[in-house]
Amino acid sequence: MPSSQPPAVSVSATFSEQIDQIHADLAVWIDQSELSDPLSESVPYAVGGGKCVRALLCRLVFEDLSKSPSHHQTNMMRRACIALELIHAYSLVHDDMPCMDDDELRRGKPTAHVQFGEAVAMLSGDVLQTLAFEVLSFDELFDVPPDAAICLQLTQELSTAARKMVNGQMRDLLAETEDLGELELTELHLDKTGALIQAAVVMGAICAGAKPLTLDVLGGAAAKIGLIFQILDDVLDVTATTEVLGKPQGSDVKLGKSTYVTLMGLDGAQSKAQSLNDWVMDELSSVRPDLTHTKTLVQMLAGRQS
Ligand code: IPE
Ligand code: IPE
Ligand code: MG
Ligand code: MG
Ligand code: MG
Repeated sequence: MPSSQPPAVSVSATFSEQIDQIHADLAVWIDQSELSDPLSESVPYAVGGGKCVRALLCRLVFEDLSKSPSHHQTNMMRRACIALELIHAYSLVHDDMPCMDDDELRRGKPTAHVQFGEAVAMLSGDVLQTLAFEVLSFDELFDVPPDAAICLQLTQELSTAARKMVNGQMRDLLAETEDLGELELTELHLDKTGALIQAAVVMGAICAGAKPLTLDVLGGAAAKIGLIFQILDDVLDVTATTEVLGKPQGSDVKLGKSTYVTLMGLDGAQSKAQSLNDWVMDELSSVRPDLTHTKTLVQMLAGRQS
């Protein structure tokens, strides 16, 4: 957890090769999307600089589960990674807008609405979402056509997660200055953050051809990975600095948000994340003993500092 044993090496150093590939793929897709000015500038701006946690989860699960994937499987996984980061970037652009969290710093840079104005930020979020679904079925990408059956499954996963994310964001806004109980807050976090992280893991497994039972168990564990991720985001909002976070520290307090920290205090939130993480690691081991890279990432996320 953040206060104990920070990981010796960062996610970005450990998985630099995979992250580079994800950024390169995003750039290819956005470049060929023929966006109008200034979206051609604001969209790459919004996509840049993130940790790529969702795409990384998708990619690592895929790599752990499929030792010798076909070109088609790898191609669909790369499309899924692009789609996940686009949905995530869209959620952040809108989340930062004055009508939502009203934050001015994201990934160490001015937020999209500060840089480009509110209308451009809103439309950037809109088109990021469209591009996410377009990439899953687009004709030829990286010289390989889409696989229709996998495309359908990925679209189902991603659209459900994107809808849940918006539901969670809606409840998050309505609950400002309210004190939510643990059950309500857990449901909210599972929707606003857990669903997309869950989709990332399940989409990686779908591309690897995993069986329904594997998808179920992985999906259950992944929802908890998402919950832990948001609990630690709540913790870091209090404990980290703006410089390290690359986004304003204290944003939740400013808005009177219900968080795991307001609910159970810093120690309580950290030990909740720790016990959930122990459960997740056991669950992942029960799926297959060799989910090595996935487990390394999950463990690193549990100790993240930003
Ligand atoms: C921030 O997500 C928003 C949450 C859902 C907590 P990340 O911490 O993954 O943000 P980036 O992509 O690295 O900027
Ligand atoms: C946002 O949660 C989750 C999203 C779906 C974007 P937060 O509002 O806590 O995310 P940050 O702290 O601004 O990144
Ligand atoms: Mg928010
Ligand atoms: Mg926010
Ligand atoms: Mg936050």
